[in-house]
Amino acid sequence: MHKFKTLTIKRTRPQPNGIIWTMYIPDDLVADFAYIPGQHLTFKAVINGEELRRSYSICSAPSKTNEIDVLIKAVDDGRFSQVAQTHYHAGSKIEVLPPSGHFTLEPKEGELYVAFAAGSGITPIMGMIYAAMQQTETADFVLFYGNSKTSDVLLHDEIAALKDQFGARFSVHFFLTQQRVDMPLYQGRFDAEKVKTINNHLIKHVGADGYFVCGPGPMIDSVCATLEEIGVDPALIHNERFLSDGQEISLAEKTIKEDAGVTVTIDGANHEFNLTAGTQATLLESADAAGVELPYSCKAGVCATCRCKLVVGEVEMINNYSLQEWETKAGYILSCQAVARSSKIHISFDE
Ligand code: FES
Repeated sequence: MHKFKTLTIKRTRPQPNGIIWTMYIPDDLVADFAYIPGQHLTFKAVINGEELRRSYSICSAPSKTNEIDVLIKAVDDGRFSQVAQTHYHAGSKIEVLPPSGHFTLEPKEGELYVAFAAGSGITPIMGMIYAAMQQTETADFVLFYGNSKTSDVLLHDEIAALKDQFGARFSVHFFLTQQRVDMPLYQGRFDAEKVKTINNHLIKHVGADGYFVCGPGPMIDSVCATLEEIGVDPALIHNERFLSDGQEISLAEKTIKEDAGVTVTIDGANHEFNLTAGTQATLLESADAAGVELPYSCKAGVCATCRCKLVVGEVEMINNYSLQEWETKAGYILSCQAVARSSKIHISFDE
């Protein structure tokens, strides 16, 4: 399902410099909005005459029925996030794409999961913690959560409630960068030295079954590289960026070099259009120009809402901040970053 649905905001709750929207999911849309913990929703709204799309991770427990929570952090110059804090209330309606994303956890009995989250990087991790605690009886979860100061900690009450209920299986360690803490270990951001110290003192070299890292790009790069350096199998390390690095696709990279015929399969239907050599467009932009509506949000290679499979042909992917190696090897691409490089191309959103 790749079509926007109109949902109603059931209630809102404040967070430090942010807001939680609880979306009401009517019975006839429950199947469309079933999700795997860690996935996100993409919202569409016209703000000041411009259509904006933004993705926010689901942070509620999968056990909730007919409800999904997302946390929207206010960004200083964020056109959508600012309006989200003030102009949307219980009863407001908004266009929403069904859940997507592959930064996910389907927990198994007896496994141990470790997460490093910074700031609003906690949001996809929360759903994973709920799932590990509520959907299994024996999985454990260790959360390392970094913020500037205590008052910035998002979902504090929810984390505390999980700790109260599942204390033997769920442990959380808060790290602060701009507020003094008594133990030096908990002071500072997640860099290579900090991750090694955490591994030595808190994880104690116990191998986990999955490591989940979410936060700003440099934090993700540093944590993931250090985990690999200390011997963690790269296949067990998963990450999700929530901010674009601001890179744009240059026009030269977007130039289509030969005429091409494109087939797009989505929701069981095939759509066809042609590309002309010399045109500058990604597959997503070409489809849009041909009147074929495809799912997207960031258009920056970060959110993976536009992920699809290359069935036939060749493309050049310009930026990729979200697909993992196994996905690109399996033929998955980001249509917002893919430029045609062969005369025949078939992509599918149904695989
Ligand atoms: S739309 Fe976000 S990665 Fe393509």
